[in-house]
Amino acid sequence: MRTILVSGGTSTLGRAICEQFVRAGDRVYCGYVSNKETAEALADSYGSSLIPLHLDIQDPKSIASAIQEIEGLDVLVNNSGVFSVFTPTELLESEWQRIFDINVTGLFRLTQQCIPSLTERKGCIVNIASINALHPGFGGTSHYDASKGAVVAYTKSLAKELSPSIRVNAVAPGLLQAPYLDDANPLRQHYEERSLLHSLVEPREVAKVVQLVSDCRAMTGELVGVDCGYLMG
Ligand SMILES: NC(=O)c1ccc[n+]([C@@H]2O[C@H](COP(=O)([O-])OP(=O)(O)OC[C@H]3O[C@@H](n4cnc5c(N)ncnc54)[C@H](OP(=O)(O)O)[C@@H]3O)[C@@H](O)[C@H]2O)c1
Repeated sequence: MRTILVSGGTSTLGRAICEQFVRAGDRVYCGYVSNKETAEALADSYGSSLIPLHLDIQDPKSIASAIQEIEGLDVLVNNSGVFSVFTPTELLESEWQRIFDINVTGLFRLTQQCIPSLTERKGCIVNIASINALHPGFGGTSHYDASKGAVVAYTKSLAKELSPSIRVNAVAPGLLQAPYLDDANPLRQHYEERSLLHSLVEPREVAKVVQLVSDCRAMTGELVGVDCGYLMG
């Protein structure tokens, strides 16, 4: 049994990742900030295999106290991430900073504090990037695209710096299936039209890849896309 920490564990993707690891028999710490209710509901469903953990990656004290709760970390999944849409001229510096403070600096803060424990257990890190890092320019997403580009570069750099003790990889999902993307949503329609599989990405399919990447002892410094063939379309 491995011990896994998933930041943003109650999000659309985070929840699927938590469930994937729990089903594999691992013990999962499900990080949340505001969504305590969902974290507790997941804990009710999965018993002692899933432990809700308050974890705000913008707050170093919250990170430190969360990490103190965890004994022997094997896998860190940096899943927390936020998104917004603003044209480059409308975008306020404060919004640029908010996106970077969570998607990039928060990921760094949490990673840095997990390194000693991961080193001890020869563990691994899986960072959730996005196809926006590889195919930027959906429209109004320059700040988000730049933040995910930084996640990819940080992943590859860390893989070198932390080898051979800790493996570090990234997974780049395409547009995830989510309740707010109804059939009439133009982004959904565009995605379904262009992707080779004519489909949005099911979160559980991404979760399977996150688990695979965490298991595979021959992988480090990789970026794995899970996008239903969008980039090929
Ligand atoms: N949705 C997509 O189509 C898509 C596509 C490609 C990549 N991604 C990436 O996949 C990851 C998950 O996306 P999602 O759509 O599943 O997310 P989401 O449903 O929009 O939820 C955002 C998550 O980030 C957490 N979060 C926000 N601020 C935080 C902070 N200061 N500290 C720690 N956690 C914080 C939230 O926690 P609380 O709710 O508890 O506050 C929530 O769990 C993100 O990195 C995203 O960029 C998403």
